[in-house]
Amino acid sequence: MLQLNGIHSGDCLEWLMTLPDNSVDTIISSPPYNIGKSYESRTLLNEYLALQGLVLRECHRVLKETGSIFWQVGVYADKGVHIPLDVRFFPILEDLGMIPRNRIVWVRPHGLHAKNKFSARHETILWFSKSAEYKFFLDEIRVPQKYQNKKSWRGDNKGELTCNPLGKNPGDIWLFQNVKHNHEEQTVHPAQFPEDMVARMLLATTKPGDVVLDPYMGTGTVAVVARDHGRNYLGAELDPTYHDIALRRISGEPDQEGVFPNLKTLRDYVSRTGKPIEDYRFEVQVGKTPTERSKSKRFDEAHHLVEIENRLATEEESFGQRTRGLSDGLPSLPTQEIKPVDEPLGLF
Ligand SMILES: C[S@@+](CC[C@H](N)C(=O)[O-])C[C@H]1O[C@@H](n2cnc3c(N)ncnc32)[C@H](O)[C@@H]1O
Repeated sequence: MLQLNGIHSGDCLEWLMTLPDNSVDTIISSPPYNIGKSYESRTLLNEYLALQGLVLRECHRVLKETGSIFWQVGVYADKGVHIPLDVRFFPILEDLGMIPRNRIVWVRPHGLHAKNKFSARHETILWFSKSAEYKFFLDEIRVPQKYQNKKSWRGDNKGELTCNPLGKNPGDIWLFQNVKHNHEEQTVHPAQFPEDMVARMLLATTKPGDVVLDPYMGTGTVAVVARDHGRNYLGAELDPTYHDIALRRISGEPDQEGVFPNLKTLRDYVSRTGKPIEDYRFEVQVGKTPTERSKSKRFDEAHHLVEIENRLATEEESFGQRTRGLSDGLPSLPTQEIKPVDEPLGLF
């Protein structure tokens, strides 16, 4: 039997084996990458992949015929060797008979600057469906067009909108801000999913009441997003500290000392209850008093896309000028006016 809306505390493989066949609509997860993060013990790459193969075989078994898996991975790096893990996961999923739908690039514009190779600036999400009868609800995840209100000025369609009024397909390059310092969702976990990114996968492939599973729940991001959108969730987390944070994010209540696992849970609580924000704290708090969400600077994905487009264009133009001998220095990047948006995203 499926125990819905709970997170198992322990190993996911053992737990997955207890679940019934064909019972889950979508799996959204980011496994450990075997790179020696605080929550994983590093093993040989082949051993790691063999174990991941067993987990994915169970994931495939528990999925409904119409179900999907989103598997988010980065790079395995060891002594200068750089292996994008999706390259290794792709055949594992194909060998299970699953059908590839997208390889999504999650751009990470900031990070360490490498000295002896190009700096890694993206991770990937592999989307596979269990069968040809998969679900994809495009209207739920459309984003604004560049010229959303542009109208035809001649021909049979004169005066009509030239593009879909509901917006466009978001494409397979995503720029959700990494959950690091200055992000209101940040907990003590070093590798959290941004909630909006999970929402895109969940809304694209499930309806209210459907079941979403994450075998590596971490701090419960998939559970929180499922709860917020009226989906059922289940999953596992090995580390008791992260398991506890996940339960506290889901409950949305402060602990006995008035502390929340992150600023977002705190802000949601005070806007729901009307209680004064100064009475509470959150675990990764650096400043003295948490601020209201309305006072934060927040940027949506479109803002970050424009910013990176401009930045890459400038960097590459400057490179071209230097290689053609037209300049000898580095230009400074254009500064952009930054306009916060209404959606709860990004920096605080
Ligand atoms: C990349 S993190 C996932 C973070 C999560 N997406 C979030 O938003 O918080 C991977 C998680 O898998 C957990 N983990 C590692 N091995 C596990 C296992 N065998 N069973 C269950 N969880 C495990 C780690 O403790 C870690 O929290």
